[in-house]
Amino acid sequence: MGKFKIEKGDITLYEVDAIVNAANTTLLGGGGVDGAIHRAAGPQLLEECKTLNGCDTGKAKMTKGYLLPAKYVIHTPGPIWHGGDNYEDVLLKSCYQHCLKLGESSGLKTMAFPSISTGVYGYPVEQAAGIAVSTICEFLKWTEVVEEVIMVCHDEHTLQTYQRALNEYLEESRM
Ligand code: APR
Repeated sequence: MGKFKIEKGDITLYEVDAIVNAANTTLLGGGGVDGAIHRAAGPQLLEECKTLNGCDTGKAKMTKGYLLPAKYVIHTPGPIWHGGDNYEDVLLKSCYQHCLKLGESSGLKTMAFPSISTGVYGYPVEQAAGIAVSTICEFLKWTEVVEEVIMVCHDEHTLQTYQRALNEYLEESRM
């Protein structure tokens, strides 16, 4: 049973086996956390990303971490919010599941996530947090490999939203 933690911080500073990047389908960098990770990792990250031929929304691909304190980066393009009737919830859940499965199959013990899709991609953070928390917590119940997952929130509102989502999840689990 792995541990789930919610913290406020900058994911590029986390010394974990892998940090997750909220990427786009080209995997060629961008703004937000994608930009921050590429800046911190250095140009070799983009060089490796160029060999990956992009990544479908909801899927995940792994690279080395280069100048980051994290050993690896798992890149996952989240869904762009279009109102909620385009399977955005299914695709967002898929991002978390694919990243966790990829980490597990790579033998990773510690992983850190940003709040996928809730920035530029406009996914309402309350709904995204519920999906992220339940998907991560369900996975941690069963994995025998991953020991710790940290949700790294970049601002206070996101932090409080994820903490609320975790409390709600734990309440429901007790019923
Ligand atoms: N550490 C942790 N979280 C961060 C950091 C950071 N250094 N920088 C930003 N964030 C947070 C944002 O505050 C937001 O809560 O990451 C979350 C995701 O926001 P975005 O980075 O905008 O990602 P997303 O909404 O998934 O949009 C992806 O934006 O940067 C482009 O190339 C990227 O096209 C893709 C799109």
